[in-house]
Amino acid sequence: MRRTRPIIWIALLVLAVGVTTMLAGCGTSGTGTTGTATGTPAAGGLKIALLLPETKTARYETQDRPLFEAKVKELAPDAQILYSNANQDATEQQAQADAALTNGAQVLVLDPVDSASAASIVAKAKAKNVPVISYDRLILNADVDYYVSFDNEKVGTLQGQALLDKITKDGNAGKTIVMINGSPTDNNATLFKKGAHSILDGKVKIGAEYDTPDWSPDKAQTEMDQAITKLGKNGFVAVYCANDGTCGGAIAAMKGAGIDPKKRPSTGQDAELAGIQRVLLGEQFITIYKAIKAEANTAAELAVALAKGSGVPSSMTLSKVNNGKIDVPSVLLNPVVVTKETIKDTVVADGFWTAAQIMNTPELVAAGQLVGLK
Ligand code: BGC
Repeated sequence: MRRTRPIIWIALLVLAVGVTTMLAGCGTSGTGTTGTATGTPAAGGLKIALLLPETKTARYETQDRPLFEAKVKELAPDAQILYSNANQDATEQQAQADAALTNGAQVLVLDPVDSASAASIVAKAKAKNVPVISYDRLILNADVDYYVSFDNEKVGTLQGQALLDKITKDGNAGKTIVMINGSPTDNNATLFKKGAHSILDGKVKIGAEYDTPDWSPDKAQTEMDQAITKLGKNGFVAVYCANDGTCGGAIAAMKGAGIDPKKRPSTGQDAELAGIQRVLLGEQFITIYKAIKAEANTAAELAVALAKGSGVPSSMTLSKVNNGKIDVPSVLLNPVVVTKETIKDTVVADGFWTAAQIMNTPELVAAGQLVGLK
């Protein structure tokens, strides 16, 4: 982590002061085969499983996985990472978790496709005395050891507030909007939706609202097509989208219907490259930056500590989040709104994207120069 950078400081505030909790229930050594393994196996090395939920959202393969693997390798050079991605399929994720346990994983870092049904994965891991870190999405009603994520309800309130302020500024207070939420099986989607509704309800009319199966951008596009058919091309002033992927789908639908997305402010999250580029061009109003490096690093530090049977790093602050069964010791990082004007001081200052990565067409270069990117 680069301590001089502002966003990282915000994240560090969450981590900096607090109680050190010692670990209970440390993992046992694995002896299994290496069928799903990536990385270099080493005799006697740690075995850590990372199970991510999908590939249609850019963050998992471009950020979470490489950042997590790099941190584990830094802390435990001979560790083996058993990696799998469930491609939005909860049944597939069950099979991948079974394989990781069979192959001797000493800890599971699990980002569940389905926050509820993943409880059975936790039960199987517990039966083998393998600890589970609930990564980014909370696993509900299960004996999870740790939860590492962001303040997800705050993500929703930040999105809702930014959109409401813009609608009001545009002179459209009280008018109709469309809401495109995330996957109904993702507890985070529930929290984003709750946060956004807490700001928007009573202040605008919600003309059409959808939960998007699997968070698929293509399904979000179909939902937006339906909203345009229902409300008419001029029947809505803004679009709440839960993430950048779904916002990309909604914007494609608007363009397909001949609607200028620059005149219909929309939201997202993840600060994925395509999202940041749309924000810079004014096609998407805001995104939410979540410092995935801090999240992946924290999960990696905890995973290595659990696999080694050592204590939680003393710098780590743990709060409690109830998952319906227990209070889960948790690290919750802080999300940040990104507008066109703040791209430079947020994602670029934090090293998440370089100006050159963002400004990769003449149109983006011109737009970037107007907001001080070079
Ligand atoms: C994550 C988001 C992501 C979404 C779709 C959520 O649980 O917090 O960052 O965009 O899932 O994968």
